[in-house]
Amino acid sequence: MNDEIILAIESSCDETACAILKNGEELLSNIVSSQINVHTEFGGVVPEVASRLHVENISYVISSALKEANVRMEDVDAITYTQGPGLIGSLHVGVLAAKTLGYVYHKPLVPVHHLAGHIYANEYIAPLRFPLLALVVSGGHTELVVMEDDFRFEIVGTTHDDAIGEAYDKVARVLGLGYPGGPKIDKLAKEGKPVYPLPKVHTENPLDFSFSGLKSAVIQSLGRIERKGEVLNTADMACSFQEAALLEIRDRIREAIEIYQPKHFVAAGGVAANSRLRELIREECEKHAEMTYTIPPMWCCTDNAAMIAKAGWHAYKLGVRGDLFDGPDPGLELESYDAGKENA
Ligand code: KG4
Ligand code: ZN
Repeated sequence: MNDEIILAIESSCDETACAILKNGEELLSNIVSSQINVHTEFGGVVPEVASRLHVENISYVISSALKEANVRMEDVDAITYTQGPGLIGSLHVGVLAAKTLGYVYHKPLVPVHHLAGHIYANEYIAPLRFPLLALVVSGGHTELVVMEDDFRFEIVGTTHDDAIGEAYDKVARVLGLGYPGGPKIDKLAKEGKPVYPLPKVHTENPLDFSFSGLKSAVIQSLGRIERKGEVLNTADMACSFQEAALLEIRDRIREAIEIYQPKHFVAAGGVAANSRLRELIREECEKHAEMTYTIPPMWCCTDNAAMIAKAGWHAYKLGVRGDLFDGPDPGLELESYDAGKENA
């Protein structure tokens, strides 16, 4: 049997990335060019700057991935890319690169949903078992997703307002910790105690999330401390916020496992890199001996193209195809990639 080679491109936010995957299993290369140092200067991702940096980096990232994998474009069987969701300008760069390569080398195109990529990143650790429950936590998403089979996604819980990563980044900003806030709060919280009282959130759907109230409560609390002339213990506030936010997530996971009785639980997305969240997930999942659980290692939690290659491999096998008229879709819905539905 001939080897099947997938080339994957990811550029939905501030990482320009390309990966090469052989036969759905062997990751031959995984190049990630992060723009984080540039955005740190601005205190967050500046979309216009991100698009320009993608334009500067994309060709080099793709050629490096091919070179490291020792693969020529002629050997590639399909090109998979993140079609959405994400920043429109950033997405455009990856999508155009993929389409150009597809056109020039006559290769099939396989559009992929960014979150499908985050979920399938777990396959680098263990094969997915269904029904599966995924917690997707990133800068743009907070979702509980149930999968009955490959590429059949049902969102059973979502955030009413801010995504968890966004809440981390905003709280870090008001605490003066800089960008990106997630890793900074994670680290600082280890030195603090959850002594500042913050509200518990209630949502109508017990599997939904809400973080904007919590973020506002932190801001109000800072105002109160200042008005009273007290000294803020930043580590304690970071820890209080983190405990409140992550216990909310832990409770939703507990509830969802109860309801859906999955055979496999996976964590996905940048916030899955959080050490306290990883601890809480382990504690919760260890209670279910019959359920497998995977928490991907750090390298495949945050944005990369290896995860897009994995999802793209399955989508390719399922017959998902894009064409040269498809553009990026910043609001792309995960459930529209359900392979059981018409457009897949
Ligand atoms: O998945 P990702 O790389 O990009 C998106 O698709 O959004 O996630 C980035 C988010 C940022 O909000 C960042 O602050 C957060 O993940 N993050 C963390 C940690 N590492 C990254 N949040 C909490 N704790 C961490 N250790
Ligand atoms: Zn992401």
